[in-house]
Amino acid sequence: MRRRSAGLSTLAIHGDGAARAAHDPVAAPIYQSSTFVSSIASHEEVLYTRYGNNPNQLRAAERLARLEGAEGAIFVASGMGATALAHLAVLSPGDHLLSSEWIYGGTRRLFLEEFTRFGIEVSFVNPDRRREWRSKLRKNTRAIFVETPTNPLMRVLDIKWLAVLAESEGIALLVDSTFATPINFRPLEHGADVVIHSATKYLNGHSDVIAGAVAGAETVVEEVRNRMKLWGQALDPHAAWLVERGLKTLAVRMMRHNQTGLEVATWLEQHPKVQRVHYPGLASHADHALGAKVLEGFSGMVGLEVAGGARAAERCLRALRLIIHAPSLGGVESLISEPRFTSHAGLSAEERAAAGIPDGFLRLSLGLEDPQDLIEDLARGLAAA
Ligand SMILES: Cc1ncc(COP(=O)(O)O)c(C=O)c1O
Repeated sequence: MRRRSAGLSTLAIHGDGAARAAHDPVAAPIYQSSTFVSSIASHEEVLYTRYGNNPNQLRAAERLARLEGAEGAIFVASGMGATALAHLAVLSPGDHLLSSEWIYGGTRRLFLEEFTRFGIEVSFVNPDRRREWRSKLRKNTRAIFVETPTNPLMRVLDIKWLAVLAESEGIALLVDSTFATPINFRPLEHGADVVIHSATKYLNGHSDVIAGAVAGAETVVEEVRNRMKLWGQALDPHAAWLVERGLKTLAVRMMRHNQTGLEVATWLEQHPKVQRVHYPGLASHADHALGAKVLEGFSGMVGLEVAGGARAAERCLRALRLIIHAPSLGGVESLISEPRFTSHAGLSAEERAAAGIPDGFLRLSLGLEDPQDLIEDLARGLAAA
């Protein structure tokens, strides 16, 4: 782990603080070039954008590494690409992966439909049953994967405890930290080995890029880079430039998301048409105590169960004027989605109910609009529910 030399906002804006010369551009240029001139008869590194060594890709990666306190980082073309490559960097055919059950539906499908085709065994643990982490370990277990806070119940996992287990077994702990960002939680500081992000979400923050990232030890990042060169998920330079620009405001955006999240969740909790609110900043949340200890903010992600079930939730959605009905999260505009049709569409109604996501569950990503306007919009929606 690398020590931070400055505050998170400063690092996100200035990065390594390289000296500036007169007439240098203040904002980085976009190197929209697939290839770069090579020296003749030289073993010097060949620059080629698919290799992930385009200056825009490297700048964004350097910023994230500093924010996460990682030796290195790499951006790729999607969060799914990042999850796939991070795991392929630490797993081989014949290995076993132990994953939390509380993960994004796409990741679950990647493990079950793709990894198993390559001879990587996967089993799932309900993190509420702590003992299962140990009892489900096998001789060939090489990695543990978790997401925290989780989608869409905002459960917070005890990474420190898992890190001790992973270290004692000599296996890697990978954490999808998309919902937290390095502003609210830095998994490496809690003993994780690898951090994964869907940078499509808060890191970029403007709903205009699909990107992913992996941060950790240089050896892991190098493995990810080697896989990426061959599997071809390099991030386009313009997208990398947009991500770097997004990162510059990450800290202030997260402060506002955190404030609005708490304000709106508190308001929702007292509303008669809301059966239950899932937000770790609320005392009613199962992980409030742990969250208050380990998180530096609770984010703008709120799960809510509308009283009256699926039909009432649909009426609420139709009455909203400001909050946009769309999947994804972490952007400046507030979005709302129904997990049963998006992130958890792969589960049956029974499986979703067992997972605590009944029909009528809505996932709200609070953006940067004025909180009072968001509350008014939700009041209008719930009045119609
Ligand atoms: C927690 C989490 N991880 C990974 C992903 C996949 O990211 P992307 O859509 O950028 O491929 C998502 C997104 O949808 C997500 O919510």
